[in-house]
Amino acid sequence: MNAIAKSWPGTGVTEIPYWVYTDKDVYESELDRIWYGDHWLYAGLEAEVPEVGSYRTTTLGERQVIVVRSAEDQISVLENRCRHRGVQICQARSGKLDGITCPYHQWSYALDGALQGVPFRRGIKGKGGMSRDFSPADHGLLRLEVEVVNGVIWASFSDKTPPFRQYLGERLWKSYERIVSGRRLRVVGYNRQLIPANWKLVIENIRDPYHGALLHVFLPTFGLFRPDQASEMRMDETGRHGSLMSLPALDHAGGGEDITRDLAVDASLQLADKRLIEAVKELEGSETLGSCCVFPSVIFLQQVNALQIRHIIPKGADGCELVWTHFGFAEDDEEMRQRRIRHGNLFGPGGLVSVDDSEVLAMAQRGFKMAEESGTATVRMGTGGRENTNEGHMATESGIRGLYQYYREVMGL
Ligand code: FES
Ligand SMILES: [Fe+2]
Repeated sequence: MNAIAKSWPGTGVTEIPYWVYTDKDVYESELDRIWYGDHWLYAGLEAEVPEVGSYRTTTLGERQVIVVRSAEDQISVLENRCRHRGVQICQARSGKLDGITCPYHQWSYALDGALQGVPFRRGIKGKGGMSRDFSPADHGLLRLEVEVVNGVIWASFSDKTPPFRQYLGERLWKSYERIVSGRRLRVVGYNRQLIPANWKLVIENIRDPYHGALLHVFLPTFGLFRPDQASEMRMDETGRHGSLMSLPALDHAGGGEDITRDLAVDASLQLADKRLIEAVKELEGSETLGSCCVFPSVIFLQQVNALQIRHIIPKGADGCELVWTHFGFAEDDEEMRQRRIRHGNLFGPGGLVSVDDSEVLAMAQRGFKMAEESGTATVRMGTGGRENTNEGHMATESGIRGLYQYYREVMGL
């Protein structure tokens, strides 16, 4: 692995150099050290591949994989490229297969990736064919490590990644389990969007309680989120995973400091249809927002009754794709499904809340481009030191510092 010819400004993580978001070599190194390193990546839901042969294609880092139920009790995650001459075999996003056959020369593979057939392997009428020492066992589709945890499929390019629960750490396990407890899941729908911003900005954004009520004016306007409500920023021991929880906004009519003075709230606005934000309690605790960001590839998020998975696919230093899977539970009735769709629209990529994030992240990327080599982002809100403690307030950027503590370690920066 090549060392990066850059030096981090200072010894801490309160100044983040712009080049981590723009530099091509840094990005290539992230692919090697992070995406293809000892990390679990989100590969989909068990519910998406219900029967033997059901598959979906998805992208982990920049590599496309086939996620397939290869036996009743087995899910395989295979690199989507033929071991003959590299052709990307599956073109569809999802479907059902008996086996996997490459269109070019018809090499055929079993659902677990084992190479089963090579046409004319023994030649034609005794002429040509593969040499005797050709070993089909060495030419199966490349198989990733797989662990299915509470209905979620995790894959890793490395066989040294610790078991998922250990990888996540007990503190974050609580946040994970709150959203995906093992109850059977049902997909409600998908969105896909391209964001012209570095992939790390998406993770920072969900770990940044500071912006919540300031950028997303909709939230304080309709009482969904206020900066003074009880909240908790949780991180694992390394700082790489993060979870933000917040409890319902308190009624501050009784006095005390008016924290809304810094917010651009127009009190005269009313929702024409209150069902947009009316929630039915369903998960443990009374959090109106609960997230669990599993580094580096995914964010699980609950906001009112919207449950969603935001899968991050990096696309060069300057952009990423976000694939949203909106989900519910197998036993949801039609009313609940409709509620999830309403809430999912509000908190989806084109909704009145999250659209603010995509836009502001693209604006950040444009700012970084202006001073790639010399500029730094300042991340000083909240306490100093190793940033993996629960804080209970929102005037903090500890979640971002925690992230970069781990980032510096894993990147050797
Ligand atoms: S490239 Fe796949 S069979 Fe030849
Ligand atoms: Fe946001």
